[in-house]
Amino acid sequence: MAKLTLKTKEERGTINRHIYGHFAEHLGRCIYDGFYVGEDSDIPNTRGFRNDIVEALRAVNIPNLRWPGGCFADEYHWRDGIGPKEDRPLRLNFWGNAPEPNLVGTHEFLDLCEQLGCEPYFGGNVGSGTVQEMRDWVEYITSDYDSTLSNERRANGRENAWHMPFWGIGNENWGCGGHMRPDQMADLYSQYHTFVRNYHEKPLMKIAAGVGGSDHNGEDLAVFMDRVMNRRHNVTMDGVSIHFYVYFPQKPEHSATDFDEKQWFEVLHEANVMDHVVTVNSAILDEYDPEKKMWLIVDEWGAWYPVEPGTNPRFLYQQNSMRDAVVAALTFHIFQDHCDRVQMANLAQTVNVIQALFLTEDEKMILTPTYHVFDMFKGHQDATALTLELDVDTYEQGDQSLPMISASASKSASGEILLTLTNLHPNQAVSLDCDIADMDVSSVSGSILVDDDITAHNTFDNPNRVTPQAFDGAQIADGNLKIDVPAASVIALTLQ
Ligand code: AHR
Repeated sequence: MAKLTLKTKEERGTINRHIYGHFAEHLGRCIYDGFYVGEDSDIPNTRGFRNDIVEALRAVNIPNLRWPGGCFADEYHWRDGIGPKEDRPLRLNFWGNAPEPNLVGTHEFLDLCEQLGCEPYFGGNVGSGTVQEMRDWVEYITSDYDSTLSNERRANGRENAWHMPFWGIGNENWGCGGHMRPDQMADLYSQYHTFVRNYHEKPLMKIAAGVGGSDHNGEDLAVFMDRVMNRRHNVTMDGVSIHFYVYFPQKPEHSATDFDEKQWFEVLHEANVMDHVVTVNSAILDEYDPEKKMWLIVDEWGAWYPVEPGTNPRFLYQQNSMRDAVVAALTFHIFQDHCDRVQMANLAQTVNVIQALFLTEDEKMILTPTYHVFDMFKGHQDATALTLELDVDTYEQGDQSLPMISASASKSASGEILLTLTNLHPNQAVSLDCDIADMDVSSVSGSILVDDDITAHNTFDNPNRVTPQAFDGAQIADGNLKIDVPAASVIALTLQ
């Protein structure tokens, strides 16, 4: 017997919509040949950005987009990407040794965000840039005062300053961003923080780079994070960024689509480690910020496998299966469970890279199973998280185990309850009795993402193999809700 108790009167705080954020790096085919095809392309576009992708992201209420990297950000110099396109330099993008034509720069990215209706999240260059370069970039974008930099922006076609809500100071500065020690990261953060000024009436949030992984490259995660926090000099951090990937790119047996139950389990077990990562980092932040004003931001996450055969290994192009849908659902449930501290997150990466929402091939574009989870879960954005208790069996392999069901519930401003569930077991359905005694439910409806084959995925020839279907496995009888949760499925239910 499996039981779920939903306590609709026990509210746990707001689920920040920004946990449903995205990440677009100049890497592989994410920007060029992904988001951006150029104004002259036959592929329908608006000022160079594919209309199909923009529409699909608007449909899932994309809250924010992080750009230009990633590791790329620490080698990016913003002046390369302003002014007439024909005058922009051709650089070499080390991450794949690809040409970087700088056709997508500051103005284009901010145009994309306006098309998407989302907030921009910039990553500033700490690794190979200068303090002056970063402060000037912020002034160029956000100042309406009379200055040479603001006038240059106006001459480049943008009269009014943009509001810049999120500003990242560095990326993985313990790794590709400079291989720094935590004290060095904290010192640089303090220095850059001082000169990243607020010119706009709405202040920007300054976000420090924190740790990566679950054991921070063999170092103690908590010790490293503590030093980053401890060594900054009388400056605030509005947010601190951490990265955690389900990271198997070097393991051929961890193909994105050719795997068996062993690898299914290993991937989900690793995805569940996100809870540990967030718990450890939250505990450190609690010491410095007991009032929980500082945002913990998981601005890179996702399942990372070997690339598709025949593709550039450094372009990180991989397929996306039903397993990735379960990874996404589980991860969102973990973030929502930590909604008091995890205020933002960015899946890596939106188009054609790692756990993408979209794969493109010339004019064709497919939605991945991961995309559908963002769609099914969008009602959680800015809703109030509710208390939920689960009493379910575990799914075991060797001496490791996972809960069979992961779930989360929220209440919208209009009082609707969204209950999302995923069954982590690849071949065992669960019959779930739900105690909803403290609410008066008259109707339940929803959708399900499921396939008989756990490796199922969408292809350019069969783009709708994995797509949400109406779900009829939830019934209300005598005030109780019973849900038949098929194996390896993701379900979203609205209770009214
Ligand atoms: O998302 C790919 C890369 O992974 C990013 O550039 C980097 O920040 C991380 O190591």
